[in-house]
Amino acid sequence: MSTAGPGRDVPEAQIAVHWREEEYYQPPASFIGQANAADPAILKRFGEERFPECFREYADLLSWDTYWHTTLDTSHPPFWKWFAGGRLNACYNCVDRHLAANRNKAAFLWVPEPEEEETRALTYQELYAQVNEFAALLRDFCALKAGDRVTFHLPMVPELPVCMLACARLGVIHSEVFGGFSGTACGDRIADSGSRILITMDGYHRGGKLSDHKAKADEALQAAEKLGQPVDKVLVWRRYPDRYLSHTPMAEGRDFFVDELLPRYRGHRIAPVSMPAEAPLFLMYSSGTTGRPKGAQHSTGGYLSYVAGTAKYYLDIHPEDTYWCAADIGWITGHSYIVYGPLTLGTTSVLYEGAPTHPDAGRCWRIAERLGVNIFHTAPTTIRMLRKLGPDEPLKYDHHFKHMTTVGEPIEPEVWRWYHKEVGKGEAVIDDTWWMTETGGFLGATLPALQPMKPGSCGPGVLGIYPVIYDDEGNVVEPGSSRAGNVCIRNPWPGIMQTIWGQPERYVELYYARYCRDTHSTNWRDWPFLCGDGAVQGEDGYLRILGRIDDVINVAGHRLGTKEIESACLTAEEVAEAAAVPVIDELRGRVVEMYVALKPGLEPSSELEDKVARAIEHEIGKIARPKKVWIVPDMPKTRSGKIMRRVIAGISNFADVGDISTLANPEVVDSIRHQVQSRKLESGEVPRELTEAEREEIKTFGGTA
Ligand code: WT7
Repeated sequence: MSTAGPGRDVPEAQIAVHWREEEYYQPPASFIGQANAADPAILKRFGEERFPECFREYADLLSWDTYWHTTLDTSHPPFWKWFAGGRLNACYNCVDRHLAANRNKAAFLWVPEPEEEETRALTYQELYAQVNEFAALLRDFCALKAGDRVTFHLPMVPELPVCMLACARLGVIHSEVFGGFSGTACGDRIADSGSRILITMDGYHRGGKLSDHKAKADEALQAAEKLGQPVDKVLVWRRYPDRYLSHTPMAEGRDFFVDELLPRYRGHRIAPVSMPAEAPLFLMYSSGTTGRPKGAQHSTGGYLSYVAGTAKYYLDIHPEDTYWCAADIGWITGHSYIVYGPLTLGTTSVLYEGAPTHPDAGRCWRIAERLGVNIFHTAPTTIRMLRKLGPDEPLKYDHHFKHMTTVGEPIEPEVWRWYHKEVGKGEAVIDDTWWMTETGGFLGATLPALQPMKPGSCGPGVLGIYPVIYDDEGNVVEPGSSRAGNVCIRNPWPGIMQTIWGQPERYVELYYARYCRDTHSTNWRDWPFLCGDGAVQGEDGYLRILGRIDDVINVAGHRLGTKEIESACLTAEEVAEAAAVPVIDELRGRVVEMYVALKPGLEPSSELEDKVARAIEHEIGKIARPKKVWIVPDMPKTRSGKIMRRVIAGISNFADVGDISTLANPEVVDSIRHQVQSRKLESGEVPRELTEAEREEIKTFGGTA
């Protein structure tokens, strides 16, 4: 798309998109009656003329040790400082301050995947004790102090938030790597963040299987070591304290069982370290482009204020709610809206270990019914899967949601309506929340009691966020024009990342260089933030998000960089060239198909196809495993040798391949088409008519050149 460089025929910004306008849905009266934001005056309070002071309201949801003197310091753009001069501790805000009134209320309800294992409630008091003891271990056994980094590679277990909060208590910067990622991917992130401690678990349940997770730690350490970052200690939590689920040995003097160390710290209490508002709280790595992983660095004061405020007004969390976000804490959604947001508000947050469809498509609704969940948060890919596997399942359970959200990718209006009618029984509001790793919290969504829902659109910019759409030349694309462009946020906000860890130039380059009006200006108005999505804005200000404009494929709500996948393939020594393309998929949104060309003299085989798939799984993780690996005699290329990804993307999607007259080898197109499409048809794939937006996405994938 538009960032892909020169030579495109039709810039993304000029694509007209013709879809049907959807009808509005109004929130039920029962919801409005209890909503945190039911008075339209709030919209005025966050109007642009009140910026940046409007965000005091969010910061005032927290307990500060020292109140800040400057709400927004813009002296070194685009390195914004929020609530400068303020000091606070994130763990204190999530845990300690709730003890006086709610000591024995559940902070977390943990649901193990095996249904015969009981739900475990972790009260605020118990959480307090565990966090303190673990913080003592980190400080005294691992010698960690404020500003150090620690990498976690943990699954969905309560030990994960315990680790996060213990770090936050000490001012140690945590970096959780999604449990499903491979050891190698974890090692890259250990090295990038400079962690010398890794915290992991021996195994966990997912989809009916018990994994050997500790094995990945050994791979991670090797990968980190290769990159010049040795790890001193590996702390291993045990899923069952009396058993060790992994087959890998515990390395003497390096690997330690947490349950064996903790008794030394029983009853220890650690005073929360008062941190500057701008101190980094955590790193969250995300995919995007080539090369080094990108660690989004999030702040303590700004970030925590922003997730508290948005969780209060957009998720409508009250302390007495039972809230379940079925995402994984390994992603930003889980950090912001399973752990930090809900806990600052003192609510009860559900954690579920396993797969939403295990052992059947009724599992989620059984959990919701049993625990009395009244706010449910999940991703379109899960909704599509549950709809396909058990369209009538929700009817069988007596669960009642007041509020439901979706996050991570666009939701098709048809899927939205099933979610609303069947899952929500028509009783709930739905919030389609659009944002990204870099933004800390929501950017686009409806204020649930005040702004009607529109299936397929996330809504307008949230409170204090002023979006704009620019075309490739930097002209504003007017709302209601039906034209797509690059969505930007005109202003900074408290939840925005502070920088890319260790790569400040890349932060400026990736998010601001494109539309910055004056690099010497200290006026925030000159620094629009490039979100990285194409979007269309309706006359009502509602945004319809089209997807990433960089080389990213969004698989089931997970961002995968094409370059990352391609370099993983090249670790198979037989592979000469590789190209990853998105294929439109009914359930997962997009899936990856891989095209590879072999080194001279080698013959294609199903063993090699499998080897390439395994290489990707090894380097990145199962989520990146391609649906299909096509070994082709040659890639379609330009005369300058660039692989034309849109051509193979067109073939994989049974779509138009566009103009091929500029190819150096146009004759390969027909043979690849024949090879791929006949195999697909034989295997029973039924091509479907693509929508206009989908056709455009495929046609412009990887740029044109
Ligand atoms: C990309 C960010 C936000 C946390 C989870 C993903 C896509 C996200 C929506 C939505 C349409 C969405 C965008 C965005 N996306 N939410 N409600 N509607 N698209 O975080 O991994 O950083 O991915 O996810 O393309 O840029 P992430």
